[in-house]
This record gives sequence, C-alpha cells and structure tokens, in this order.
Amino acid sequence: MGPRLFPFGVDPIRPEPTTPLTIILDGVPVAGVAGQSVAGVILAGGTLGFRRTSVHGTPRGVFCGIGICYDCLVEVNGRRDVRACQRRATEGDVVTTQHDALPPGGAAA
Ligand code: FES
Repeated sequence: MGPRLFPFGVDPIRPEPTTPLTIILDGVPVAGVAGQSVAGVILAGGTLGFRRTSVHGTPRGVFCGIGICYDCLVEVNGRRDVRACQRRATEGDVVTTQHDALPPGGAAA
C-alpha cells in the first residue's frame, strides 16, 4: 500500500460525519447538510437556475461562487437579494427564487 492510501475509516483528512438539514425552496423541501451554502443545497437538489434576468428573463444561478457576480440572488426567510453562495444554509430556511421584472418604463423609471 502506497503512503497516500489509507484504509477506510483511518484516513486522517476524512470529513466529520454530516448533520442533515432541510430548506424549503419555493415550497418544496430540499435536503442538504450543515455547512453547505444555500446555493450548495439548491444545486445539490438539482436546480441550476434560481433567478431570472430582468430584461430577457434568462436563467441565472451560481456563476462566480464567491460573492462577486450577484447572479445567485434569492429571498431567504423574507429577506430579498441574499447571495445564495455566501449564506450558510440553516435548518428550515425558507428560500424563494427571485424573478424581478423591470419597472414600467424600464430601468430609469
Ligand atoms: S454566484 Fe456570484 S455572487 Fe453568488
């Protein structure tokens, strides 16, 4: 056995046991584990696009994953414009996707 191979159960960098959690995405329970971001739970649940652009309505989801692009905005527990990639998911979070339209007359109105 090479120096980089460890038998199951004795790997020193093996992650700790996980704690399951559930968030509610648009009324549907989605399973995750403690420590995941809201975006991580959503993506693991199979949803890739959870926001739509205001002009063309094209889907957006995680682009940068580090809090810079704002493509992952969702509503969490009633608070709008939360970057899903930057917020750690907690048990029972109620997450709503955002699909904002421009105000009548366009962005300058
Ligand atoms: S994915 Fe870019 S800010 Fe969240």
